[in-house]
Amino acid sequence: MLGNFSYSNPTKLYFGENALDYLSGELSNYGKNVLLIYGGGSIKKNGIYDQVVSILKASGKEIIEDPGVMPNPTVEKLYEGCKRAKEGNVDLILAVGGGSVCDYAKAVSVSTYCAEDPWDKYYLRMEDVDNKIIPVGCVLTMVGTGSEMNGGSVITNHEQKLKIGHVFGDNVFPKFSILNPTYTFTLPKYQMIAGFFDIMSHILEQYFSGDDDNTSDYIMEGLLRSLIHSSKIAVKNPTDYEARSNIMWIATWALNTLVAKGKATDWMVHMIGQSIGAYTDATHGMTLSAVSMPYYRYIMPYGIQKFKRYAVNVWDVDAVGKTDEQIASEGLDRMETWMREIGLVMNTKELGVTDEMLDGIAKGTFIMEGGYKVLTHDEIVAILKESMGE
Ligand code: NZQ
Ligand code: ZN
Repeated sequence: MLGNFSYSNPTKLYFGENALDYLSGELSNYGKNVLLIYGGGSIKKNGIYDQVVSILKASGKEIIEDPGVMPNPTVEKLYEGCKRAKEGNVDLILAVGGGSVCDYAKAVSVSTYCAEDPWDKYYLRMEDVDNKIIPVGCVLTMVGTGSEMNGGSVITNHEQKLKIGHVFGDNVFPKFSILNPTYTFTLPKYQMIAGFFDIMSHILEQYFSGDDDNTSDYIMEGLLRSLIHSSKIAVKNPTDYEARSNIMWIATWALNTLVAKGKATDWMVHMIGQSIGAYTDATHGMTLSAVSMPYYRYIMPYGIQKFKRYAVNVWDVDAVGKTDEQIASEGLDRMETWMREIGLVMNTKELGVTDEMLDGIAKGTFIMEGGYKVLTHDEIVAILKESMGE
């Protein structure tokens, strides 16, 4: 049964090859000073930077630059961005990049006028925002996180060995996001497929929970089928517009809050993956792929009916003459085959995880209670051991 909820998503999306044409119209809604946030330079190489800057200039904006946002943005970088935003008396933050740039922009948005340490307030204590919020707009260049249409903002504190996401309310969602699938064509294959698995994982985190008849589960099965189909095409031909545009759209719907409404959610793969990220700084999507098979095989018996449904509805497993366990296992086997086929990282050793880290990674894993099995510390260690694999 659907639980009670309220739903609103204030992010305005512009989607397609001409999406950037709408930037100047959006800019007219904000004051003169724009903090232009971007990553390590990919947007300078592929020309997106020049296009954005010329629109900002033509719109009469004062540009304050904040470059160098690293994958898995750090708390030190956040402090630096806040200083820059305050000094520049910024009216709008424009994030041009992937999830890291977009997440960081949201963190700067809520932290610049925060009276105390934002790491303590938002990430350790998970408190709500009670100060001025600087509006954020986004031009997305990497697909996976859904950050373009949600309130998620993940920050890493290497000193404390913690990577934590705060899911802010819809007053922190980007005001607008520009989604041009061709911008993703220049992504290296490793990033592209990591993004594909991030999408898959977001859907599975919300799918593998509850055992009711829930519309969200049907929506997710459709999203998963489309993702699997398009990912195979995109891996062979990264500039296939149809595949890449479908995937961009799936990523947004996978994590823009809609499919989670009225149902329980799991999120343990992400919690383990984030803790691995805090130790290794590995690419987010690969931290998820490396632990997923051991995790799902472990929890399968606790949610057997849903795993069976997943096998049949998503992976077309023929159920005739088989036990529930056989059907469910076959679904997971097919998922693993697809993961290997597109080239995902299947073990954490490859990401730099060592045996000595396992206890610490398990301690840094936040235990959520919405999935089929509430894990203990020892169970997390066992899953991590299994994930060292091959
Ligand atoms: O920094 P540059 O030079 O731009 O290069 C980036 C970066 O190295 C590169 N890249 C991005 N667009 C490109 C490109 N290279 C060539 N062509 C392009 N068009 O890709 C690399 C990775 O970028 P990043 O932004 O780090 O990737 P992603 O979008 O996967 O973001 C990862 C971060 O988002 C968080 C993750 O934890 C991680 O910190 N997440 C945010 C979520 C949310 N807001 O809800 C949920 C997710 O589960 C996730 O946790
Ligand atoms: Zn993710």
